[in-house]
Amino acid sequence: EKVILAYSGGLDTSCILKWLLEKNYEVICYMANIGQEEDFDAAHQKAMKIGASKVVIDDLRESFVNDYVWPAIRSGLIYENRYLLGTSLARPCISVGLMKCAQANGAQYISHGATGKGNDQVRFELSCYYICPKIKVIAPWRMDEFCKRFQGRQDLLKYAAENGIPVSVTPKAPWSMDANLMHISYESGILENPNTEAPEDLFMMTKNPLTCTLKPMRIEIEFCKGVPVQLKTADKVIKDNLQIFLYLNKLGGDFGIGRIDIVENRFIGLKSRGVYETPAGFILHEAHTDLEVFCMDKEMYRVKQSLRDRLSDYVYNGFWFSPEGNYVRKCIELAEENITGNVKLLLHPGAVTVLGRSSAYSTYNEDLVSMDKHADFSPEDASGFINIQAIRLKEFRRLNINQ
Ligand code: ARG
Ligand code: SIN
Repeated sequence: EKVILAYSGGLDTSCILKWLLEKNYEVICYMANIGQEEDFDAAHQKAMKIGASKVVIDDLRESFVNDYVWPAIRSGLIYENRYLLGTSLARPCISVGLMKCAQANGAQYISHGATGKGNDQVRFELSCYYICPKIKVIAPWRMDEFCKRFQGRQDLLKYAAENGIPVSVTPKAPWSMDANLMHISYESGILENPNTEAPEDLFMMTKNPLTCTLKPMRIEIEFCKGVPVQLKTADKVIKDNLQIFLYLNKLGGDFGIGRIDIVENRFIGLKSRGVYETPAGFILHEAHTDLEVFCMDKEMYRVKQSLRDRLSDYVYNGFWFSPEGNYVRKCIELAEENITGNVKLLLHPGAVTVLGRSSAYSTYNEDLVSMDKHADFSPEDASGFINIQAIRLKEFRRLNINQ
């Protein structure tokens, strides 16, 4: 029987590959290119050497940006007010590729190396069950047989040595990473103590903002209906989605923008500590937020923010494909119809600040708000407005007078 294994080329999935072969499965290794720095050729050769019947390398970068990252920017997705969901967004994207691969190869099984304590198992499996309800999942890290045999890294290394599985010569970093073009996340290992500070050499997408000597740089981002359509710098104009994102990653990375260190609540109920770097995502989130408040009606904005928090939870918890996810995404899309305009930004070490914004769709009324003229506004109305607002406060005072 055929299994499609979500393969990374690392120690865990290489041992899982060998173990599946021992159990007489035919194994096809699936690797999604979602913009992570990776030697795909080396991983390909490694999987073939271990005994995979085929290795599929699938370039999903365009789809990842267009179908997941851009909708996330438009919706302003942010989990627990801090995490921009780089890993969470990649999972449904990879699952689509994985299931296409399963269908093309007539496989009934998929397998992955996600642990039983994490979010990723949930995201992969829920997405795959939605796309292909009949698929069967082999999750070795949740199987008694596998966990008894492999208690930890030492057992995996021993198994690798016994089975001629090449182990990378560079010593493994003492934390676990998940990388794609949106972000890199770092968890576990020495980071499990939430008070241990992340060492500077951990960061791979961003330079140290404290030693950055670059002069502040002006950029301009144009949005149409809530998504970026153009990036302008002093010497460049970029219109392609993927290229906008990659170039902003480079700029943001050079300025050390978009690092966070947080403890977050996993779906499964555990708290976990994570360090993230999301340069382009961070800049776009700031720019989009500014334009949104500028253009959107006040009350609509408040409804939209509550839907955004809902959708952020859905995406974090693995419900990208779900009735509630579809519904809320469509609502937010509607709310974003007028979020069209330009935001001017200044990038400086470790930070991005807004310099100005413009839009043909904003209800910002310079005449009406001006302190230098009355325009159509009758200031005497404000007295009544305040008097009425004060009724409750005066009553509250009356109640509390003797306390
Ligand atoms: N905590 C983040 C999330 O749940 C990152 C997970 C990283 N995954 C990984 N396999 N290293 O989205
Ligand atoms: C894992 O447990 O496999 C990684 C972390 C997570 O999924 O939350």
